[in-house]
Amino acid sequence: MHVPRKGSGPDRRQVLAGLGALSAMPARAQPLPLWAAAASRGLVFGASSSWEVIRDPDYAALHARESRLMVTDKAMKFDFLRPRADVYDFAEADALLAFAREHGMAFRGHTLIWNYAPPPWLAGKSSAEIERIFDDHLETVAGRYAGAMESWDVVNEPFWPDHGAPGGFRRGPWFDAMGEGYIERAFRRVATIDRSATLVLNEAFCEQNDRLGIAVRARMLPLIDRLLDRGVKLDAIGLQAHLKPGLPFEIDAFLRFLDEIAARGLPIYLSEFDIDDESFPRESAKRDALVAEWGARFLGPVLANRAVRAIITWHLSDKYTWYREPQVARRRQRDFAARPLPFDDRMAAKPLRSAMAEAFRAAPAR
Ligand code: G3I
Repeated sequence: MHVPRKGSGPDRRQVLAGLGALSAMPARAQPLPLWAAAASRGLVFGASSSWEVIRDPDYAALHARESRLMVTDKAMKFDFLRPRADVYDFAEADALLAFAREHGMAFRGHTLIWNYAPPPWLAGKSSAEIERIFDDHLETVAGRYAGAMESWDVVNEPFWPDHGAPGGFRRGPWFDAMGEGYIERAFRRVATIDRSATLVLNEAFCEQNDRLGIAVRARMLPLIDRLLDRGVKLDAIGLQAHLKPGLPFEIDAFLRFLDEIAARGLPIYLSEFDIDDESFPRESAKRDALVAEWGARFLGPVLANRAVRAIITWHLSDKYTWYREPQVARRRQRDFAARPLPFDDRMAAKPLRSAMAEAFRAAPAR
């Protein structure tokens, strides 16, 4: 079934009307929402969610007030959509699309193809079977939402050098069956199915300047060039921006990487922004201040690059951050709950929110 397009979020006229209404509000009212601060400089601000935004009224109100782009955290992932070979479970994706439409938000899908956490039923299949499943999945999912999507993460996290595969690629069912070619195959197929969505290659780790970050950045640029040289409809690059202050970080190296992507004419989404506070002091106020300081130090120079078009947080409130999921929290070396986002468990603004709003307002207009 195809979900008919009803507009993918506010157009420029609606944004300007929204900004006008907001600017007319008395000064003592709420500060300008993050989406409006971003839109005033031609940027898009959004956030991810899963069922939480549907089931938690306070969280729904926060997203509706602060964001104008909804990206699916789990709902559109292969393993969540496809619990069994003959089952597509669109319930969560459809609910998030309905929420986005109700609140004038654009809708972004994460992610059609990812070599991570494949469902068990994919194991043991021949390459030919994997290719058929791959193509059918793209046809069914991208086809169902064709026209409704602001963008798709067509392929997520192509690289994982520690797998030892040629080219440093992430191994998994798609790479193991098709090699690097799965990436081009996915982009070419989705381009024929949904001609209006921005097609994004989304990667992690590029912000950090450790061995992994340096290796992934070095692999991304040649991959981008190969895809562009072959005429693949690669429309934008997603850099996840899960900042890790405990890891080596060299802003100039990351800015040079942004320049390289911009030089290729590609817009950039900061697609999963949050700031890991694991390495900060336990005391919440100190942690929140350091998270905000990192946010300002990162976003200021990064948003000076006009190729950066969207900033999307990975969830919006600490209450629902992925860092608090049991399988992630267990890996952290600290016994306090993560506070990586602009709003706290009670949906109250934290210093990071102000730092983000300031960075948006200080950014050069797009
Ligand atoms: O629902 C099952 C539950 O039934 C089971 O008991 C439990 C224990 O195994 O797992 C639950 O599913 C987990 C799911 O989150 C819901 O909590 C999955 O194991 C777990 O892998 C999944 O983690 C998600 C992860 O991507 C993998 O899909 C995180 O919520 C999600 O925030 C995270 O997001 C990723 C982006 O897609 C890509 N970039 C990095 C980012 C953070 O890891």
